[in-house]
Amino acid sequence: MENQILPSIQLTEEHLAVKEAARDFAQNELLPGVIDRDIASKFSKDLVKKMAEMGFMGMMVPTEYGGSGMDTLSYVLAMEEISKVDASAGVIMSVNNSLVCYGLLRYGTEEQKQKYLIPLASGQKLGAFCLSEPEAGSDATSQHTLAEDKGDYYLLNGTKNWITNGNSSDICLVIAQTHPELKHKGINCLIVEKGTEGFEIGKKEDKMGIRASDTHSLMFNDAKVAKNQRIGEDGFGFKFAMKTLNGGRIGIAAQALGIAAGAYELAVKYSKERKTFGRPISDHQAIQFKLAEMHTKIQAARLLVYKAACDKDQGLDYVESAAMAKLYASEVAMWVTTEAVQIHGGYGYVREFHVERMMRDAKITQIYEGTSEIQKLVIAREILK
Ligand code: CAA
Repeated sequence: MENQILPSIQLTEEHLAVKEAARDFAQNELLPGVIDRDIASKFSKDLVKKMAEMGFMGMMVPTEYGGSGMDTLSYVLAMEEISKVDASAGVIMSVNNSLVCYGLLRYGTEEQKQKYLIPLASGQKLGAFCLSEPEAGSDATSQHTLAEDKGDYYLLNGTKNWITNGNSSDICLVIAQTHPELKHKGINCLIVEKGTEGFEIGKKEDKMGIRASDTHSLMFNDAKVAKNQRIGEDGFGFKFAMKTLNGGRIGIAAQALGIAAGAYELAVKYSKERKTFGRPISDHQAIQFKLAEMHTKIQAARLLVYKAACDKDQGLDYVESAAMAKLYASEVAMWVTTEAVQIHGGYGYVREFHVERMMRDAKITQIYEGTSEIQKLVIAREILK
């Protein structure tokens, strides 16, 4: 329908206030140590606590469940501002909000919401979403982790890889196979608490980017998980993961948009300050053309990201719009950050000018929560279904 293709995206006073609060928080709290945290690969519990105090950890969760009771557009606006400055903080926030909290809110039982959603949305606890495995990344139906049905509990065995918040989370949503003969229809999602016997934290990944988020492998060795920790009906786990990831992709798209916008703003500023051949480099058409193209692509990405958020808020199907937003915004982030480094020249290649970190951070947005190739597959299936 035409009116679904071009929605009028109206930012209310509340949206603008959220955006401004997130921008101030990013400038005052995240910017000061962002380079050091990247170098040291340091996850900051203090900053996550401060983000929680700002209401950023459960933005789309109603206040009665400990959240901020906001819409997806507010969430996207905050994510963009946070990720402009610190993409690591962006992914910590994104996983907790759109994968863990939203998944529990949408599909959890009342008992699960009371026990887990309230502390997660209010930021007293942190969550992780555990789908990927050493041999199941893009091919996510190929789960090797087993959740054997033992009557009143599941016996969990296997390894999860590249888990964001892996070490620092208190509550993990773990996808595992219960009925291999049923393929993806035999998969379950279990809520597993840190400290469960047989649940161990594996190695920390030494990453190219988003280094201040903590990424670990997780191991389950005969870990017992009660039946009432399962989300949804028996065999709903894969659908749960896919449906939750649709919203997650909007969060990552907003993170990518923020990275691109942050690098672009730095490039504009630098181009007005740096002089070559007797004038600011912004006077040179070679730089002007780059800035014009960066600005245009960022604006196009922003429209796609906001549209996906509005589709979700309006109760429309957002599988395709989320995949398009994630695909385009992440490609733009990679391209814009590379151009921002180029505009900065030699200064762009050193840490203190931020853009080299942004270029490294941008790369993961083309990979996690579904690679660019997977987004194309999702979009093509939507076109052809
Ligand atoms: N929304 C809702 N349902 C979906 C869906 C979507 N986006 N994608 C697939 N499904 C459903 C299908 O409709 C199908 O359901 P039925 O059995 O009822 O028909 C079922 O899931 C299986 O789908 P397919 O038959 O299409 O399975 P496939 O193997 O051909 O393709 C895939 C599946 C789309 C490639 C899927 O494996 C996928 O999305 N892979 C990418 C995985 C991913 O995004 N991982 C991210 C890890 S989490 C992360 O990165 C978090 C972090 O730390 C930052």
